[in-house]
Amino acid sequence: MSKNAIVILTTLITGLAIAVFILLFYKLPYSAIGPEQPIPFSHNVHSGVKQIQCQYCHPYVAYSNHPGIPAVEKCLHCHNYIIANHPWIKKEHEYFNTNTSTPWVKLNYVAEHVLFNHQRHINSKIACTECHGQVQNLQRLPHKTWYMNECITCHFKKGANVDCWLACHS
Ligand code: HEC
Ligand code: HEC
Ligand code: HEC
Ligand code: HEC
Repeated sequence: MSKNAIVILTTLITGLAIAVFILLFYKLPYSAIGPEQPIPFSHNVHSGVKQIQCQYCHPYVAYSNHPGIPAVEKCLHCHNYIIANHPWIKKEHEYFNTNTSTPWVKLNYVAEHVLFNHQRHINSKIACTECHGQVQNLQRLPHKTWYMNECITCHFKKGANVDCWLACHS
C-alpha cells in the first residue's frame, strides 16, 4: 500500500471510531444521565443485577400520591451487612446518625394543576417501566417533566378517560 493510502485509511478508521463512540454515547441506556445525587445510588445494581423489587423500596406507590424515596433505615437493613465499609454506605450512616434525610434530588415533575395518582394506573396493571423507562438498566435516573400529551396519548391508546379537564385537573 502507498503511504497516501495508509493515511486515508487511518483517517477513515479514526473517523468511524469517533462516530461509533458518539452514537453509543447518546444511544446506550446507561448514558441517560440525570442530575448527580448525594449518593450515587444505582438502580442498575439494585434492580437489574440484584433484582430487588421496585415496591420493596417504593412501597407506597400504589396507595399514596407520594410514593417517596426509601428512608435511610431501609438502606441500612441491607447495608449494615453488605459492603458496610464502603465510603458511600458510611455517608448513609452519617445521615442516619445525624437524623438527616438524604437530600435526594427530585426527578419527576407534573404541572402543579394536574392530578396524578399512581393507584389507578398500577391497579390497571401498567408496568412501572411503561412510564419510567428501563429504570433497572440505569446507573443514574434522568429528569423528567410530564406534559399532558403523554398522559393523553396513553389514555387514548388504552381507552382510558380522556376528558382530562374533568379527570386530571383540579
Ligand atoms: C434498593 C432501593 C430501590 C429499589 C429496589 C428501586 N428504587 Fe427507585 N429509587 C430509590 C432511591 C434511593 C431513589 C432516589 C435516588 C435516585 O433518584 O436514584 C429512587 C428514585 C426513583 C425514581 C425517581 C423519583 C423522583 O425523584 O421522581 C423513580 C421513578 C424510581 N426510583 C422508580 C423505580 C422503579 C421503577 C424501580 C424498579 C425497577 C425502582 N425504582 C427500584 C431506591 C430504589
Ligand atoms: C435489599 C438489600 C439492599 C437495599 C435495601 C439497599 N441495597 Fe445497596 N446494595 C445491595 C447489594 C446486594 C449491593 C451490591 C454489593 C456488592 O457489589 O457486593 C448494593 C450496592 C450498593 C452500593 C455500592 C455502589 C454500587 O453502585 O455498586 C451503594 C452506594 C448502595 N448499594 C447504596 C444503597 C442505598 C443508598 C440504599 C437505600 C436507598 C440501598 N443501597 C439499599 C443491597 C441493598
Ligand atoms: C402511568 C404512568 C406511571 C406508572 C405506571 C408509574 N409511574 Fe411513577 N410516576 C409517574 C408520574 C407522572 C410521576 C410524577 C408524579 C408527581 O410528581 O406527582 C411519578 C413519580 C414517581 C416517583 C417519585 C414520587 C415522589 O414521591 O416524588 C416514584 C418513586 C415512582 N414514580 C415510582 C414508580 C414505581 C415503583 C412504579 C411501578 C410500581 C411506578 N412509579 C409506576 C408515572 C407513573
Ligand atoms: C402508560 C399509560 C398511561 C399514562 C402515561 C398515563 N395514564 Fe392515566 N390512566 C391510564 C389508564 C389505563 C387509566 C384507567 C385506569 C382505570 O380504568 O382505573 C388511567 C386513569 C387515569 C385517571 C383516572 C381517570 C378516571 O376515570 O377518573 C387519571 C386522573 C389519570 N389517569 C391521570 C393521568 C395523568 C395526569 C397522566 C400524565 C401525568 C397519566 N394519567 C398518564 C393510563 C395512563
